[in-house]
Amino acid sequence: MKTNIALIGFMGAGKTAVARLLAKNLGKELVELDCLIENRAGKSIADIFREDGEIAFRQLEIDVIREVAGNKNQVIACGGGIVLNKINIDRLKQEAVVVYLTASADVIQQRVSTDGDTRPLLARNNKAPTIRQMLEFRQPFYERAADIRIDTSALDIEATAEMIITRLKNYAGFNWQE
Ligand code: S3P
Repeated sequence: MKTNIALIGFMGAGKTAVARLLAKNLGKELVELDCLIENRAGKSIADIFREDGEIAFRQLEIDVIREVAGNKNQVIACGGGIVLNKINIDRLKQEAVVVYLTASADVIQQRVSTDGDTRPLLARNNKAPTIRQMLEFRQPFYERAADIRIDTSALDIEATAEMIITRLKNYAGFNWQE
């Protein structure tokens, strides 16, 4: 029986905020992979991309997932690109039900519009074409990884967390408590 929930999906899908609320409501440990990576590297995601490049970032991502994937009773907020390396999903799935949060390109654009350069892959003035292109490319990866899929376009953080709980109740193989 799995005791972890891993939230995947594109930037701006609400993974971190929803994970925080879910962890609190379910009494599970919150694990934010991007935070772990920043702690490990001793610098921000933006600085990792700028100084070391995306490949170095992806390696850090693989490293931290290897370390936490086997722990129990966690809600794991994943970075939007973890699906790009299949090994990450294989490792997460040992202990986690993978929940894919989707949102339309327009909604994502709205949610990330005030980002500044915190998300290096979207750090440009006109984000719309990049979002559409990346979404189209990544969609099959997210779909393949997902155990549960939830469209958050019309949902706020609370409603999304509630929806996840409802869907998990019908998911055989999830253990609510350690
Ligand atoms: C990325 C998403 C970011 C962060 C990094 C790369 C991606 O996380 O890991 O900037 O490739 O989609 P969020 O999805 O939490 O913004």
